[in-house]
Amino acid sequence: MNILTFNSEEKLNEAGAGIIAGIVQTKPQAVLGLATGGTPIGIYKQLVKKFEAGLVSFKDVTTFNLDEYVGIDASHDQSYRYYMEQHLFQHVDVTPERTHVPNGKAADLQAECSRYDEAIAEAGQLDIQLLGLGHNGHIGFNEPAEELVSGTHVVELAEATRLANARFFASEDQVPKQAITMGVGSILKAKMILLVVKGADKADIVQRALQGPVSTDCPASLLQTHPSLTVLVDEAAGSKL
Ligand code: GLP
Repeated sequence: MNILTFNSEEKLNEAGAGIIAGIVQTKPQAVLGLATGGTPIGIYKQLVKKFEAGLVSFKDVTTFNLDEYVGIDASHDQSYRYYMEQHLFQHVDVTPERTHVPNGKAADLQAECSRYDEAIAEAGQLDIQLLGLGHNGHIGFNEPAEELVSGTHVVELAEATRLANARFFASEDQVPKQAITMGVGSILKAKMILLVVKGADKADIVQRALQGPVSTDCPASLLQTHPSLTVLVDEAAGSKL
């Protein structure tokens, strides 16, 4: 595991974008696993800048997002499809059909999960999976549990997660109760994992995830078993490592 600590958010974002752009530059048909949440926004901004400067093209890239809320439309401003369009896709030259986000409005959610897993398998191995970290150790929407699920599945969101995400909705009761998420097996199959953690409020959980016991109580702790894990932290998040 490679932990890199940054004394400025700008440098962290630049490093994250540099890693992703580097993969795409050497492999234009790269398969990227992408994440949402507040954490990667700055990295996407830097990727857009690199695209605008002519340093990288996403034309032949295939993307798979980790997760999506159940029951809200892709056009809803809190859907993860909308987030990706706003922060990355509409600013770069991605081929729309090559961008994948689970469909949280699918009539048959189980079928949607199988379809998503098949699409990932068809694209081949993810070259990189970008990840944020939930305060309870979740990755994607794989919440702490006695057992974790390997493939894409429907999950009931933990109350803590709904509370944490309520800031983006008009009120807490509008936060969806379920989501579709890639499973930990799919995440761990990526060639490389890039975990990004910012802020003092994540110092304890990132320490537990990276240096505590490997346990389904903290899904991110499974990342310790990955042969190619890079972690980018700011000084506040990394203060207990
Ligand atoms: C969300 C997402 C995760 C994200 C995490 C942290 O609920 N499903 O993929 O990594 O919580 O979010 P943030 O970066 O806003 O702290």
